[in-house]
Amino acid sequence: MAQSFDIDAATAKLAGERFLVTGSEGCIGSWVVATIVRAGGSVVAGDLATTGRAVRALLDDELVERVDFVTCDITEPDAIARIVAEHGITRIVHVAALQIPFVAADPLRGADVNVLGTVRVLEAARHSGGQVRGISYASSSAVFGEEDPHRPATLYGALKACDEAIARFYARDYETPTVGLRPCVVYGPNRDQGLTSALTTALKAVVRGEAFAIPFGGKLDLQYTQDVAWTFILSALAQPDGAPVFDLHGDVVDVAHFVELVERARPDAAGLLTVGDGTLPGRLEFEDASLRAFLGELPKTPLRDGIALTLDAFEG
Ligand SMILES: NC(=O)c1ccc[n+]([C@@H]2O[C@H](COP(=O)([O-])OP(=O)(O)OC[C@H]3O[C@@H](n4cnc5c(N)ncnc54)[C@H](O)[C@@H]3O)[C@@H](O)[C@H]2O)c1
Repeated sequence: MAQSFDIDAATAKLAGERFLVTGSEGCIGSWVVATIVRAGGSVVAGDLATTGRAVRALLDDELVERVDFVTCDITEPDAIARIVAEHGITRIVHVAALQIPFVAADPLRGADVNVLGTVRVLEAARHSGGQVRGISYASSSAVFGEEDPHRPATLYGALKACDEAIARFYARDYETPTVGLRPCVVYGPNRDQGLTSALTTALKAVVRGEAFAIPFGGKLDLQYTQDVAWTFILSALAQPDGAPVFDLHGDVVDVAHFVELVERARPDAAGLLTVGDGTLPGRLEFEDASLRAFLGELPKTPLRDGIALTLDAFEG
C-alpha cells in the first residue's frame, strides 16, 4: 500500500523547537509560519515589515496572537544573529529573497539579499553555539538551464546556484549543515509576485469574473503552498549529512490543462483565461524520490484540490 503523509508524526517533531522564518511576509514564508502555528509550534516571523499581512490572511486572529513578528532585514549584518539570540531560535527556515524580475532589475540588491543574506543566515547559525540545530533554505528550480543542467537561464538562478555552493562549504568547513530545496512553480493563496505567480493571479481573476492572459504555456511542475510549507519545516528539522539539495515535485501539467481544471471547477469561468505562446526559461519538470527517501512521505495536494482550495480562499 502507498505510504501517506503522517501529519501527527510531523506535528510531534515541532515540540521544544523555536523557529525563525525569514521572508515571512512572502508566499512560502507565510505558509510556513501558518503551518507551524496551526500545528501548535513556536515561531518568530521575520521580514522587512512587521504588519503580518500575509500571515493574517491565513490564520484566525487567535492563532495570529501566537506569532512573534519581528523586523528582520537580512541585508543588515547583525539582524539574524540578534534575533536568534533574543528569541532562542533552534531552527531556521530561510526563504527571504528577491525573485527573477526583481533580481534582473537590481542585480546588486539581488546579490545582497539572495547571496549575502544567505551567508548571514549561515553565519548566525554557525556562531549560535549549537543553539540553531537545523536550517532549510530556498534554492530554486532556476538553478537548471535548458540545455546544460548546470547553467542557469537567469541571473536569479545563478545567485541561487551560488547559495547551494556556499552551503556545501558551511557544512564541510563550519559544521553548519543545511537542507536546500528547489521549488518550481508554487501556487495557492499569497502567491502574488514573481514570474510564475500568473497562475495564482489567474485564479484570483476567475473569482472576480475578470479575463486574464497567462503569459506563458507549456508544461510546469505545480506545487501547492501548504505542501511546500511542510517540506521546508521538515527539512529544517532533519539531520542532514552535509548540505543536500532536493528538487520539489507536485503535479506536472500543461498550462492549458490547468485552465481546463479551473473551468471544470468554475464553469462560469469558461473563456476568461487564455494561455500565451511563450514558455518559461529552464527546466520545469521534476521528481522527488530522493527527497522522500530523505524526509519520508510528504503531503501531496492533488492539483484539482489545490485549485479548489485557492478559489475558495479568494472567494473568502
Ligand atoms: N514561489 C515560487 O514558485 C518559488 C519557486 C522557486 C524558488 N522560490 C524561492 O522560495 C523563496 C520564497 O518564495 P516566495 O514565493 O515566498 O517569495 P516572495 O517574493 O513571495 O517572498 C519573499 C519575501 O522575502 C522578503 N524579503 C525581501 N528582501 C528581504 C530582506 N532584505 N530581508 C528580509 N526579507 C526580505 C520579501 O519582503 C518577501 O516577503 C524565495 O527564496 C524564492 O526565490 C520560490
